Amino acid sequence: MDKKTLIIANWKCNPLTRKEAEHLLKVINGGIKLTKDIEVVICPPYIYLSGFNLKTLNFILGAQDCHWEQKGAFTGEVSPLMLKDLGCQYVIVGHSERRRYFGETDEIINKKIKAALKARLKPIFCLGEETKDTFDSEGKQLNEMNLIVQEQLEKAVAGISSNRINDVIIVYEPVWAISSNNGVSCSSDEAMQARLFIKKILSKLYSRRLAEEIKILYGGSVTAKNSSDYIKKAGMNGLLVGGASLNASEFIRIVKGVYEISPRF
Ligand code: PGA
Repeated sequence: MDKKTLIIANWKCNPLTRKEAEHLLKVINGGIKLTKDIEVVICPPYIYLSGFNLKTLNFILGAQDCHWEQKGAFTGEVSPLMLKDLGCQYVIVGHSERRRYFGETDEIINKKIKAALKARLKPIFCLGEETKDTFDSEGKQLNEMNLIVQEQLEKAVAGISSNRINDVIIVYEPVWAISSNNGVSCSSDEAMQARLFIKKILSKLYSRRLAEEIKILYGGSVTAKNSSDYIKKAGMNGLLVGGASLNASEFIRIVKGVYEISPRF
């Protein structure tokens, strides 16, 4: 597999005008460089995805969602093939906000991952528990994270073969740590536990070798201050950045921080 560290910007439903979006992209593009070890992926709203001269970009384009069918009578939906045609290489699938506000189930997410793969897009699949792990009166962990993450993962990858699974990027994004939920932050230790747990499930479902190859990222209140810890201490293969990616200088700082800790720089 490629060993590139991925830094993904999820702009969600922002900014409100094309002018602001273009400005943000221009500043970010000027502040980062194309390297062989780090890939920056920007996922703006669909409406800002067109009109790029891809050769001038120091980042890769991604989308925030896609439909599970390639085409047809599906009013309001966007096909993964349309995203591919615009130059996207990645698409976020199964973000907790899609689950929470748009009723996406594990089954829908599974169909979307398959549709993305079929269109030769790399799905960025998000999973994570809603609330922080709880403990019983004796301090024993009730393992909510494990149960939820296992179920979400198994259902999302059902039917995906060994030769396609390493195109799927997995993001551990504990919902309680997303900034819009006013979350407490997830420590690098908690992130590492989740990463190891996800690897364990992947080796059961596939093989140890594939579990090593599949990229696991962290998302949830990533800032320039905590970003390198998730990579250095928690061993994550990259980051999914929401709120902080709307601030060009903060986002560039995150990317530069990752350049600095990359062993090959
Ligand atoms: P956040 O969002 O970085 O603002 O917490 C991350 C996400 O929800 O993708």
